[in-house]
Amino acid sequence: MQTAETASVAPKPNGTWGENVTVEFEDGIAWVTLNRPARRNAINPGIVWEMNAIMDALEADDRCKVMVVTGAGESFSAGMDLKEYFRATDSVPPIERERLFRANAAWQWRRMMQFPKPTISMVNGWCFGGAFQFLVASDLAVASEDAVFGLSEINWGIIPAGIVTKAVVEVMSFRDAMYYIMTGETFTGREAADMKLINKAVPAAELKDKTRDLARTLMGKNPYVLRQAKTAARFVKDLTWEQAGDYLMAKSDQTEFRDPENGRNTGMKQFLDDKSFKPGLETYDRG
Ligand code: COA
Repeated sequence: MQTAETASVAPKPNGTWGENVTVEFEDGIAWVTLNRPARRNAINPGIVWEMNAIMDALEADDRCKVMVVTGAGESFSAGMDLKEYFRATDSVPPIERERLFRANAAWQWRRMMQFPKPTISMVNGWCFGGAFQFLVASDLAVASEDAVFGLSEINWGIIPAGIVTKAVVEVMSFRDAMYYIMTGETFTGREAADMKLINKAVPAAELKDKTRDLARTLMGKNPYVLRQAKTAARFVKDLTWEQAGDYLMAKSDQTEFRDPENGRNTGMKQFLDDKSFKPGLETYDRG
């Protein structure tokens, strides 16, 4: 039997959002903000369903050329909601729990890793546990220098599950990953950048502007080629050199064949014939 505490596990039937996550469009950037500041943006079932609906919508919405995920208030995300995502789901039928967990994996890493448009995590504050999943799965990550990160699971008696452990060993050195998995110590945005968990850390006052600059840089590139390039980077990691060579050749041919901008030939013409730009220094004139 469901209690009031477990009722929120059910998916939202109509794929809407706004209660737990907001979306704001600004010149091609979709600012997606986890909006439970009083709960430090801990991931509850509401965020799970809303993020899936948002990703469904944004992948087909021309107002979104780059998706930025961030948090309202002083927190990026305090990880999974221990009450609503964990304790409340202990007593629901296993199939409902599995459906919720599957939906969470979908937005936090499966879909995030394969999202057709560039994704940036903008870490504005606390970043714990489950938040590492979408942090690592997003293409790029920028943090405030004073943001606080932590794999806190060991502190409250669980292992970093979901896909957290896999995510951190993927991007951090094995020694660093082991250290923070085993100690649960926190580290700052600046340290996260030094360890290459994120791309860069900037002063808090500049975080949004620097993230916007990065998004604009990405928007200046050929979007189809960008999609192919980031997809290729993710897949070659697990291929042998021989497989990667063949895959990249095929991917490259596919890109040339399908690119609506005909970027390869346009860029080559502008460099070799028109001498109007230098690919080492800038993007070709996309018209
Ligand atoms: N799950 C459920 N509730 C959470 C939460 C989480 N992950 N993180 C914060 N909250 C709730 C708190 O219980 C508190 O609720 P209350 O107002 O009813 O007491 C509220 O959000 C504010 O949190 P509080 O701890 O008072 O804020 P703070 O700014 O002092 O500390 C944190 C922020 C992030 C350091 C602290 O909330 C924390 O340790 N959260 C858990 C982080 C964690 O281990 N996440 C891993 C989950 S996989």
